[in-house]
Amino acid sequence: MNFTADRLILFGATGDLAQRMLLPSLCALDNDGLLPQDLRIVGTARSELDDNGYRQFARKALETYMPTDRRGKMAEFLNRLTYQPLDATTLEGYRELAAKADGGKTGTAIFLSTAPSLFEPTITGLRHAGLTEGNARIGLEKPLGTNLATSCEINDAVASAFPESRIFRIDHYLGKETVQNLLALRFANILFEPIWNANYIEHVQITVAETVGLESRVGYYDGSGALRDMVQNHMLQLLALVCMEPPTSFDATAVRDEKVKVLRALRKTEVTETVTGQYRAGAIDGKAVPGYDEELGKDSDTETFVALRAHVDNWRWKSVPFYLRTGKRLPKRITEIVVQFRDVPYSIFANRGAHTKPNRLVIGIQPRENIQLSLMAKMPGLDREGIRLRRVPLDIAMPDAFTGTHRRIAYERLLLDLIEGDQTLFVRRDEVEAQWEWIDAIRAGWAEASRAPRTYTAGSWGPTAAIALAERDGVSWHDD
Ligand code: BG6
Repeated sequence: MNFTADRLILFGATGDLAQRMLLPSLCALDNDGLLPQDLRIVGTARSELDDNGYRQFARKALETYMPTDRRGKMAEFLNRLTYQPLDATTLEGYRELAAKADGGKTGTAIFLSTAPSLFEPTITGLRHAGLTEGNARIGLEKPLGTNLATSCEINDAVASAFPESRIFRIDHYLGKETVQNLLALRFANILFEPIWNANYIEHVQITVAETVGLESRVGYYDGSGALRDMVQNHMLQLLALVCMEPPTSFDATAVRDEKVKVLRALRKTEVTETVTGQYRAGAIDGKAVPGYDEELGKDSDTETFVALRAHVDNWRWKSVPFYLRTGKRLPKRITEIVVQFRDVPYSIFANRGAHTKPNRLVIGIQPRENIQLSLMAKMPGLDREGIRLRRVPLDIAMPDAFTGTHRRIAYERLLLDLIEGDQTLFVRRDEVEAQWEWIDAIRAGWAEASRAPRTYTAGSWGPTAAIALAERDGVSWHDD
């Protein structure tokens, strides 16, 4: 039975994600009166802090990472926080943690934002302290393993203590408003669905470009790389939302059933359909930045950029290429989906010297949140030298269309859904496993071909081979 949790146990409570995202999100929800009145939040991590120490720690994080206009009732929020130090790898301490959470009246939500190596011992500890009993639910932050096998191990360990209906795997892209809007665009409008298929769509591009480099995540990132860090989860989820059949309703089972069908229909991408890169020193926004190897302090074969061509082998998407590209230290931060339609089958303007260009739909996910549809229009004039047609954009900026609503960070939505028990925007086990299966095959191809990343200058759009990858199909990346 569903319930709204009145206890939230936060593992990794002193970590980077907690400071930048989780605490600010919870505080913002509290400010807006959206947290259950009785909700108590128990932070836990290795650091030896008491409740007051943690409240001070949290205050500092909120002052650093939260916009001033959303900090309104910070003191009240801080009062909800308590803290229990814990070494997650040993059983000692879990009972104290359980005592600190003290059961509550309705139930407990647990959120693991820790290294994946701690998932299994944490589950053991939680079980030992009775914290998996009753209706407790658990949220898991990525990475969920490094390949299919390790992901299965984690999933098995979690499944030994929690049924799937109480496991909430986070992909924070699903918490983004613009990502959810993809579903509204596709399924709340009659316009697109009839032409949303191989008959009318020539190709799709998904770009997730970042300007940041390694940041402080040396240990994690170098063992991961762009394919596993971004494509395995966020980009495949975007692809699934673009490609899925209409679910029968907006609920967890219906939506995830449709997404997993797409993920399972992904054809193995060949090594020749991929390009990997690693950035070298360059400049971003006019500022010099070091190369990946310099930031890392050693040579590495980890890719900080990947571009690839994917195919979804089903009736709707037969022969439609999907070009995916993501990288660090690219010229700008942008996440967007470009749906390139086919040209009109026959142009009535050809005899007047005018050329048509195919329509294009660009869905801006971040930082610009917009939907831009390019249409052909006649340029004004008497056409005495022939008709001139030009592509003009129909551009809807979401913030303008919805003034007066504030933009929430993805974790606000996801944490609230975890507390209230709505799994729609969380990733089901079969999805994660289908994602890994496809990624593992690409990585196996790279290993077999001894593929090492090419270099690219920080501030460029990756190795030139990425441009060639699309161009050999007559496609240009959408870079403007
Ligand atoms: C994370 C990756 O999942 O997503 C990071 O581990 C990446 O490497 C981040 O920077 C990007 O998220 P966003 O929301 O800034 O696009």
